[in-house]
This record gives sequence, C-alpha cells and structure tokens, in this order.
Amino acid sequence: MEKFAFIIHPLTAKDFSRKFPFAKNWPDRFVEGIMKYIPPFKVSEITGVVSDHAEAQGWFVGCPLTSRQMLEMPEPYVIKKIIKAGKVAEKLGAKVVGLGAFTSVVGDAGITIAKNLNIAVTTGNSYTVATALEGTRQAAKLMGKDITQANIVILGATGSIGAACAQILAREARYMTLVARNEKKLEKLAEQIFRSTGLAARVTANTKSALKAADVVIAVTSAVDSIIEPEDLKPGAIVCDVARPRNVSRRVAEMRNDVLVIEGGVVKCQGT
Ligand SMILES: NC(=O)c1ccc[n+]([C@@H]2O[C@H](COP(=O)([O-])OP(=O)(O)OC[C@H]3O[C@@H](n4cnc5c(N)ncnc54)[C@H](OP(=O)(O)O)[C@@H]3O)[C@@H](O)[C@H]2O)c1
Repeated sequence: MEKFAFIIHPLTAKDFSRKFPFAKNWPDRFVEGIMKYIPPFKVSEITGVVSDHAEAQGWFVGCPLTSRQMLEMPEPYVIKKIIKAGKVAEKLGAKVVGLGAFTSVVGDAGITIAKNLNIAVTTGNSYTVATALEGTRQAAKLMGKDITQANIVILGATGSIGAACAQILAREARYMTLVARNEKKLEKLAEQIFRSTGLAARVTANTKSALKAADVVIAVTSAVDSIIEPEDLKPGAIVCDVARPRNVSRRVAEMRNDVLVIEGGVVKCQGT
C-alpha cells in the first residue's frame, strides 16, 4: 500500500468556520489571530484509492494559516509551520507529501521544506499545468474557438505554473500576452519564449487592458483577492481559473452568461 499526505490550509478565514462552525460569526482578523496558535493537525484520512498498478492511502494535514497570512507573515515563521505539517505527515507514515495551495507559493517553492523533511515533497505543479492546459483546450473546442488563432492571456505568467503554461502554449498559439506585476521578469520570460518557439509574446503589467482583448485566459496569479471582474472580459471569453483563492470574482458567474469559466487543476478520477 502506497502512503501519501497532502498539506492543505484555509484559503480565507471563512474556510476555518466551515470546519469549525462555532467560529461562524467571529471577525476574520480574530479567526486569523487564533489560527496562528493552532499547530498543524490531521484533518481527514483518504482511503480506497485504487488503480491497475497500486493501491494508496493518505491523509489531509491542515496547516492553520490563511493565504493572506502565508504572504504577509514573516517567511521563516510560515515555512516553519509548513515543515511542522510535513512532520505530522511523516509521523502518520506518508512516504510523499504534496504542498497544497499557498504552501508551495511561499518562500522558495518547497525547496527549504523538502530539505527539512525525511520524505519526498512535491508541489504537484506539473500535474496542475497539464490539467489546466487540457481543460483549456477542451473548453476552447466546446466554445468553437481555435487556440491557434485566439488571443491567449496568461495572468501570473512569471510564476511556477504560469511560466510552464506559457512556454507550452507558445508552441501552438500565435497571439499571447503575458501578465504579472514585475515587467522585468515578464520581458525575460518573453525572450526565453521567443528563443525557444519563435513566438513574440506581448508583455504588460496592466491586467485590465490585457483582459479586454483576451479570447482565452489562464488565470494563475497568487493574488489573494479576485482580479477578474465581469466588466473586464470580452464577449465569449474562456477563462481557466487555476488560482486558489480564485482570481475570477463570483460576480462573473452572476453577470456574464456569455463567458465560460472553468476550474483549473480539478480532475475527475476514473471510476468516480
Ligand atoms: N488549482 C490547483 O490545483 C492549484 C495547484 C497549485 C497551485 N494553485 C494556485 O496557483 C496559483 C499560482 O501558484 P504558483 O505556484 O504558480 O505561484 P507563483 O510561482 O508564486 O506565481 C505567482 C504569479 O502571480 C503573479 N502575481 C501575483 N499577484 C499578482 C497580481 N495582483 N496581478 C498580476 N499578477 C500577480 C506573480 O508575479 P508578480 O509578483 O510579478 O506579480 C507570479 O507571476 C496560486 O493561487 C496557487 O494556490 C492551484
């Protein structure tokens, strides 16, 4: 039996009160203040994972810090708490641990965490990239859009997931815009893409203007608040929202029936 664990954390304070309903009416900052003192713990057990090749059992381990805390609190403190969550996984008997949501965004994307654990550590980002691209291609097909002719916008293009998505899609796309806040990093990425694929991608730090012209958007920033609003999107646009917390505002679903927003990195397993 293969044994694994996956570290999760509340994306916002509201997620904490879903698990602990007594905290439902507490102010967010108060919930966050309390969470700082809760050590990582086993959230639940995962059983019945069976394939033709192996059988697996695992655990979700909670690291009580919100996305905002992971970005705003001192990095050494956050990394130490994630390592403690990894130690819980080790004690449970996991042989590999996955870093969920912001636990792989903070610091050096898992390197320090891996150095401090005795089991294998993965961000799972390669799989996220593969599923986000596959989902985007299928969504484009469904909406009758030709990826090779579409204007593709990657939000969070210089990130771990964004850069890989951009580099792969650049082999099939003709029009691509790379978006993030740091323009120097964007230019460096655009240069690499040009050298490896011949595609001259545009770069901008202006998310709103890039979205206005986008046929297909891959949204994968580490922003803690939504950055895509209903008025930003072109009619008929497709958005693959990979980010957690999501980059697409809830208002998009309410106000834009003409656009298709899909969840990136969500996979239906065989037999489920
Ligand atoms: N769905 C899934 O299965 C799954 C799996 C893994 C990760 N994720 C999520 O994917 C997201 C990205 O993860 P990652 O590991 O690729 O993170 P990362 O390496 O830290 O990259 C984040 C990217 O977002 C950009 N960015 C941050 N804030 C921005 C803003 N306000 N506007 C525009 N760009 C912004 C950053 O560049 P600048 O700093 O220059 O702006 C960078 O390009 C996170 O939300 C994470 O939780 C989802």
